Amino acid sequence: MSVTPADVAVSLDHVHRTYGGDQPVVALDDVSAVFTRGTATAVMGPSGSGKSTLLHCAAGLDRPDSGRVRIGDADLSSMSEKQLTELRRGRVGFVFQAFNLVGALNVEQNIMLPSRLSRRRPDPAWVDEVIGRVGLGDRLRHRPAQLSGGQQQRVAIARALVTRPEVIFCDEPTGALDTRTAADVLALLRSAVDQTGQTVVMVTHDPVAASCADRVMVLADGRIVRDMPQPGAERIAEHLALLGRRQPVATREG
Ligand SMILES: Nc1ncnc2c1ncn2[C@@H]1O[C@H](COP(=O)(O)OP(=O)(O)O)[C@@H](O)[C@H]1O
Ligand SMILES: [Mg+2]
Repeated sequence: MSVTPADVAVSLDHVHRTYGGDQPVVALDDVSAVFTRGTATAVMGPSGSGKSTLLHCAAGLDRPDSGRVRIGDADLSSMSEKQLTELRRGRVGFVFQAFNLVGALNVEQNIMLPSRLSRRRPDPAWVDEVIGRVGLGDRLRHRPAQLSGGQQQRVAIARALVTRPEVIFCDEPTGALDTRTAADVLALLRSAVDQTGQTVVMVTHDPVAASCADRVMVLADGRIVRDMPQPGAERIAEHLALLGRRQPVATREG
C-alpha cells in the first residue's frame, strides 16, 4: 500500500538531536519515519534510547539540530515559536505518564483548557461525546486530587481529544496505571483512531499496550532498529528481550 502525501499525519526526515555541551549525548541519530493518518504506532526501546525526544521533536515541543519534521503539510522547522505554539494548540494533543492536570481546576475546566487557550469554542455536542466516552459525566466538578490515577488519565485523554487534534502523542500513558485501568485508557486511544480517524503515537514499555497499536517501532541508541506491523505481544517481548541482552554482551567483549 503506497502512502500519498494526504495520508501523512507526521513525518520525520533525517532528524538529529544532540543534547549537552562538553560530553554531548546523541538522543536521535538520523531518524526518518512516517506516521500514517488514522493509525496507532507504539514506540518502544530501552530507557534513554530517545523515545521521548522523538515524541517531543515530532510534536514541536523540541527542535531537532538538523532534519525536517512535518505535521500534515506544515513544516515545523520553518516555524517561529509563536507559530509552533499555535500549531500545538490546534492540531496536536498530549497525554503524559504523570497526567499533568491543573490541580486548581476541576475536571471540566481541565478538559476545556486547550480550547480556552486557543480561543476556539468546540462544538458542545462533541464535548459531550468526549466526556461520555471517557466516562466522566458525574465527575465534572471534581478536582484532580479527588480522582483515582485511572480517572485522572481519562481526564487527560478527554483534554487531548476535545480540540479534535490530528495527532495525539502519548508518553507512557499507562505507565502509572494498574492493568485494568490501563486497558480502559488503551481502549479510549484506540477509539480515537477507529471512530474519529485520529493518529496516535504512543511511547510504551508494555508489550500488551503496544500490541493494541497497528505498528511497533523500536528505538535503540537514538536509531530505529525495528519497525513491525502488528507484531503481537509475544513477538514484541522477544524483540525487547533481545535488545536487553545487547548490553551485557558488549560489556563482556569490551
Ligand atoms: N534535556 C536533556 N538534556 C540532556 N540530555 C538529555 C535531555 N533529554 C534527554 N537527554 C538524553 O538523551 C537521551 C535520550 O533521552 P530520552 O529521549 O528521554 O529517552 P527515553 O525516553 O527513551 O528514555 C538520553 O541519553 C538522555 O539522557
Ligand atoms: Mg522517555
